[in-house]
Amino acid sequence: MTNPKYDSLQNCAERRGHRPVMLKEAVEILSPKDGLEYLDCTFGGGGHTRAILESADCRVTAVDRDPSAEDRAEELKKIFPGRFRFVRANFSEICKLQTENGYAGILFDFGVSSFQLDEAGRGFSFMRAGPLDMRMDSSKGPTALELINSLAEFELAKILREYGQERAFAKVARAIKSAAESGGLKTTLDLAKAVESALPRQNREKIHPATRAFQALRIAVNDELGEISRALPDAFGLLSRGGVLAAISFHSLEDRIVKRFFKKLAGLPEDRRDRSFAQDRVKLATLLTRKPAVPSEAETAENPRSRSAKLRAIRKD
Ligand SMILES: C[S@@+](CC[C@H](N)C(=O)[O-])C[C@H]1O[C@@H](n2cnc3c(N)ncnc32)[C@H](O)[C@@H]1O
Repeated sequence: MTNPKYDSLQNCAERRGHRPVMLKEAVEILSPKDGLEYLDCTFGGGGHTRAILESADCRVTAVDRDPSAEDRAEELKKIFPGRFRFVRANFSEICKLQTENGYAGILFDFGVSSFQLDEAGRGFSFMRAGPLDMRMDSSKGPTALELINSLAEFELAKILREYGQERAFAKVARAIKSAAESGGLKTTLDLAKAVESALPRQNREKIHPATRAFQALRIAVNDELGEISRALPDAFGLLSRGGVLAAISFHSLEDRIVKRFFKKLAGLPEDRRDRSFAQDRVKLATLLTRKPAVPSEAETAENPRSRSAKLRAIRKD
């Protein structure tokens, strides 16, 4: 069933370059109320923030580490005067955004935005020639190329295995390091070529062979999993009683962190290996999604990027 209110929100956000994923589901689960405060930890193109602001007379604080998100936030400030503020920060720093009564809802929508992927100069995509950068905050930290140059081959192999789930991690690491050492690794296309030289493209493979290596390096450059692990407990601390914490993940490494944390808060075993006694577990929250919510078929058909999305949420007791 379509809801004209959400359709118009979706259309607005799309015109501005990034299609917010699971917009309707995220807003429904946060269920914004007049007079309350919300925190969007991943502003991006502002699609979710805008939908929250349009669905109730509430206030939103939005965070993004990308300096270019700041310009997009300026537009929203004009549309929602006094109801929206933007803070450029890593979401692992949200504890400094404490409010008097706590937030009624906090949202994470992990990963990179289409703005970042589509801008060749950011170096996120193997489809576009650009410098090997991959930093979400381009003002600090080592670029992907600097990281590759600073790592030993076995360290790079570990990153490819853990963050990219690349089975041929050793071969791919060797190919990347040897391209770097011969001076032939400067751009995203050089990296894609080095990976392909180690993994000749199989017809049956649905994704480009460099997908896993790009994912792995992006996660390492931005310490994405560390950011999530540090931010979730702080986010829970910032919620008011009855407040909702929702997170949209795009791959199993992100989703595993969210799932385990939410289960622990709900007083459940974190996973099958968790042998803790039921009486030792403390229930601080209620799971709103026993199984993660996933995008509708219509959404995945329209926006292939949404295909792997999983939305999980809890309510603070
Ligand atoms: C998938 S996009 C969010 C899209 C947004 N929900 C929308 O509707 O337009 C993810 C955004 O989160 C930001 N981001 C990712 N990790 C971050 C972190 N650790 N701290 C702050 N921002 C982060 C990225 O820069 C990117 O702009």
